[in-house]
Amino acid sequence: LIVKGTGFTSYNREKVAILEEALFFIDDRGVIAEVIESSDSSYQDMLAKYEQSENYQALSETEYLLPGMVDLHIHAPQWAQSGTALDIPLADWLNTYTFPLEAKYSDLEYANRVYSDLVSQLLSVGTTTALYFATVHQEASYRLAEICATKGQRGLVGKVVMDDPQQNPEYYRDASTAAALAETETFIQRVQDLHKRTRQGVYPVVTPRFIPSCTDDALAGLGELAAKYDVHIQSHCSESDWEHGYVKERFGKNDAFALDDFGLLADKAVMAHCNHLTKEDAQLFADTGTAIAHCPISNAYFANGVIPLQEYATDYQVEIGLGTDISGGFSKSIFDNIKQAVISSRILEDGVDTRLASHERGVPKSRITLNEAFYHATAGGGQALSLPIGKLVKGYAWDALVLKTDVPEARLPIFDQKEELTDIFQKLIYMSQGANIRKVWVQGQLVHTKGETNGNHN
Ligand code: GUN
Ligand code: FE
Repeated sequence: LIVKGTGFTSYNREKVAILEEALFFIDDRGVIAEVIESSDSSYQDMLAKYEQSENYQALSETEYLLPGMVDLHIHAPQWAQSGTALDIPLADWLNTYTFPLEAKYSDLEYANRVYSDLVSQLLSVGTTTALYFATVHQEASYRLAEICATKGQRGLVGKVVMDDPQQNPEYYRDASTAAALAETETFIQRVQDLHKRTRQGVYPVVTPRFIPSCTDDALAGLGELAAKYDVHIQSHCSESDWEHGYVKERFGKNDAFALDDFGLLADKAVMAHCNHLTKEDAQLFADTGTAIAHCPISNAYFANGVIPLQEYATDYQVEIGLGTDISGGFSKSIFDNIKQAVISSRILEDGVDTRLASHERGVPKSRITLNEAFYHATAGGGQALSLPIGKLVKGYAWDALVLKTDVPEARLPIFDQKEELTDIFQKLIYMSQGANIRKVWVQGQLVHTKGETNGNHN
């Protein structure tokens, strides 16, 4: 595949690079083999050589390329209740709504319906990689991995562990600690086997729901399994006041140090929320390579929280990606979460206005720019997962989106022929809707198209 078009990509947290009318060469494994910019000396020769080839595609003047979005925290079963029940505290929400809903995934047919719909819808809004919590059920969790494999999404899937009979309802928990660990191990092996039969990759994830739902033995066993199979780990960390307080009471320490004691902080670990990290916790994240899945919409509801994201990213160099936290957050779109990440980060920090000292407003060092939020949604998510994704750069997977600015149902306000590309980038991120996303590739494979007569709808 050879694509010519103008693309935007983060090289690092500070800079969004503009690749104007660049040529992208994608090899047969779906990896970017070469990016030739229009300023390169070989550009004209390469263009002349390849523009007649049948694998060549040129974007139109109103189309732009972005790297695919990475959703670093999403509960697939909760898709069925998205948009509801956002007005109650976390513990009540889990017991009243969420556990009864998740229990329904013992029914594979139900799981199949919801998960198929969710994966298609995520691809249609540009989420090319997702780190999923499924449920305690091994079969339904495996079904989610299969659906990702079939639809071409890069899915990282966890069978959720909730083994403590004191903490979890009888109708929704693992049968025993031993069963939770044995099922997790089998699940890892099955998904690793499935992985070999996919192009884009599907990955098993060790997934203690959160400390309150697991016994010490389960947490220790899961840490051992993660090390034995070298797989990803995910959980919730220091999310709400209640949860944070519970862990302090049980272990006399914060979530971060408690999880670390069980071998659950690691380079391939991703912890959701992290609203109550101390400086020592943040340093431990950095030292272990553990990433934060920042879920700004969800945090506004369950945690009433704004986190000092700028401080974690800049002073501590913690890896950070963005998550929807469906259905703690109501939106399936990482674009929506980019916007909320910027908005939330500004609310409690005064930035440059010295009349309103940050400490009087609550959260110093929270503010991030749009470019930084875009970085976290793409390259930052890829770094968190230790996968070569999230950048339109040589050696990275061709996970890419085509956004079109002049679709009738969602036309962006671009009236000047020569509008600055930096402005167009901002309009694309702040203002585009699902309808603007015309093509989605994962690992070089076209997985979603919209609005084309011969379009292959997912
Ligand atoms: N903590 C434990 N389980 C959950 C969940 O499903 N969603 C959120 N937001 N937090 C949790
Ligand atoms: Fe969550």
